[in-house]
Amino acid sequence: MKYEHLFQPIKLAGVVFKNRIFASPTGLRYTFINGTLMPTAPQYYGRKAMGGAAAVAVGECIVDSLYAKTTEYKIEMDNPAAVHGLSLLTDSVNRYGAVCVAELSHGGAGANRYPGAPDVIYGPVDYTYFDGRQVKEMPEEIIERTIQKYGEAALMAKKCGFGMVNVHAGHGWMMHQFLNPKLNTRKDKWGGAPIENRARITVECLKSIRKAVGPKFPIEVRISGSECYEGGYDIEEGIAFAKQIEDYCDLIHVSVGSHEVESLFPITHPSIFLDEGCNVKYAAEVKKHVKTPVAAIGALCDPELLEDIIASGKADVVEMARALIADPDLPIKAQTGREDEINKCMRCLTCFSDLVRNGHFSCACNPEIGREEEALFFPKPAQLKKVLVVGGGIGGMEAAITAAQRGHKVTLCEKSSELGGTLNCERNVPFKFRLDDYIERQKRTIEKLGVDVRLNTEVTPENAASFGADAIIAALGAVT
Ligand SMILES: Cc1cc2nc3c(=O)[nH]c(=O)nc-3n(C[C@H](O)[C@H](O)[C@H](O)COP(=O)(O)O)c2cc1C
Repeated sequence: MKYEHLFQPIKLAGVVFKNRIFASPTGLRYTFINGTLMPTAPQYYGRKAMGGAAAVAVGECIVDSLYAKTTEYKIEMDNPAAVHGLSLLTDSVNRYGAVCVAELSHGGAGANRYPGAPDVIYGPVDYTYFDGRQVKEMPEEIIERTIQKYGEAALMAKKCGFGMVNVHAGHGWMMHQFLNPKLNTRKDKWGGAPIENRARITVECLKSIRKAVGPKFPIEVRISGSECYEGGYDIEEGIAFAKQIEDYCDLIHVSVGSHEVESLFPITHPSIFLDEGCNVKYAAEVKKHVKTPVAAIGALCDPELLEDIIASGKADVVEMARALIADPDLPIKAQTGREDEINKCMRCLTCFSDLVRNGHFSCACNPEIGREEEALFFPKPAQLKKVLVVGGGIGGMEAAITAAQRGHKVTLCEKSSELGGTLNCERNVPFKFRLDDYIERQKRTIEKLGVDVRLNTEVTPENAASFGADAIIAALGAVT
C-alpha cells in the first residue's frame, strides 16, 4: 500500500482506530435553544465518517450550560434533552467504522457573552475580557463544580455512543486561560508561576473524566503548543504543559494560538498565505518530550505529506478540519489510489466566514457540505435531458459535473479558449497553487464524465436553440 503508515491502525486506551486520519472538531450552530440537535448535524458528521476518517470529532460540546457556554446554540452535555440527538449523531458516524469524538469544552472568560446568558463570567482571575466584559476569578466551589461537570459530560458522551472525548485545553478557552502564565496570577494552588498550578484544573478534570469513563475509554487533549505571538507563551511552555497532562490522557493534539488575539485566527486556521503543514513543527517538538501519542494539525491535505508526518515520527495521528470539509472522501481516495480526485482545500476560509455570518457553513469548492441530505438523497431525475451549460467558469464547470453525474447528457460552452473563468488570472500565483489544482481537477472530472466541452463557443439568444438542449443552465458570469 502506498501510504502504509497513514493507514496503519492505532490503539488509544482500549479503542482501535482504523487509520491515522482524524477529523478535527468543527462546531456548527447545531442546536435549538433547548439543547436538542438539528437533523443536519448527524448527516454532516456521518458524511465525514463515510469518507474514511478513523475518528470524527463534534466541536464544542459544552460541559456546563450555566458557566461554560460560548453561544446559545452549543450542545449542552448537562441537558438530558440532548441525549436523543447525540445518540443519532454517534450512530451516523459509528456505522462507518469511525469513532465519534465529543469535544468537551468550557469557554471560561469567553462564556456567557450571548443575549440572555447568565450574568456571571468566570475565568482564572478578575479581569476585563477583550470584548470589555468583566470576568470574575473562579471561586473554589465553581472549580470543584467544573471538575465534576467534566466527568459527568464524559460519561454522558460515552452513554450516547461517543468512543472518545477530546478535552479542549487550547485556543484561549478556559483551561488555556488557566495555563496562561501572564493571565493566571492567582495566589492559590490553581495559579501563579508553577506550571503544576496552572495545569492543575486540566489535570483534575482529566482525572474526573477517567474516573467516570474507566481506563479503556480514550481521552484526547487539545492544546495550543505555542500561542504564536510576541508576548504569548512559546513551545517550551507547550511542552511543559504536555508533560503535565500526558499521564492522564491517551492523545495530545497540538494546535496553536489563542482566539483572545484576533490576528492569530489565520494561524490557528492557517490561511492561504501560510505553507502547508506550517504548524506540524509544534506537534513534532512536543512528541520529542512525551511518551503519549501526539496528533498534528494545520493546513494538511496532501496524502504524501500526511504519510511523511507519520512515517518520519513527527506525529502519530494527523488531524484535519477544512480538508475534510472540502473533501470528506479524502481518506478513501488516498487509500484507493485516487489522489487525483481529491478536492484539496484552498484555505480561503469561506467555511468559517459563513459560520460566523449566518450560522451555517458552506465550502467554496464543495457544494455538498452542510447540505448532505440534499446531496445524498436527492431523488433521481424522472427524465434524463440534454443539458446545455453556458459558461465554463467555476459555476459552469460545477453545474456541468453535477448534471452529468445525475445522468444527463451535457454540453458545456465557454466563449473563451479555456475553462476556469476568473480563477485563471490567479492560478499561477505561487501560493495560490491550490486554485490551479482545483481547476485541473474539475477539468479531469468533466472529461471523465464525457461532457461535450466546446471552447471558443458563445451561446446567444439567437443560436441557443441550435444546440437542441431540453434545459439550459446559464452560469452567472455568462449572463450578460
Ligand atoms: C468551520 C470550522 C469550525 C471549527 N470549529 C471548531 C470547534 O468547534 N472546536 C475546535 O476546537 N476547533 C474548531 N475549528 C478549528 C479546527 O478544528 C482546526 O483546528 C483548524 O481549522 C485548523 O485545521 P485545518 O487547517 O485542518 O482546517 C473549526 C474550524 C473550522 C474551519
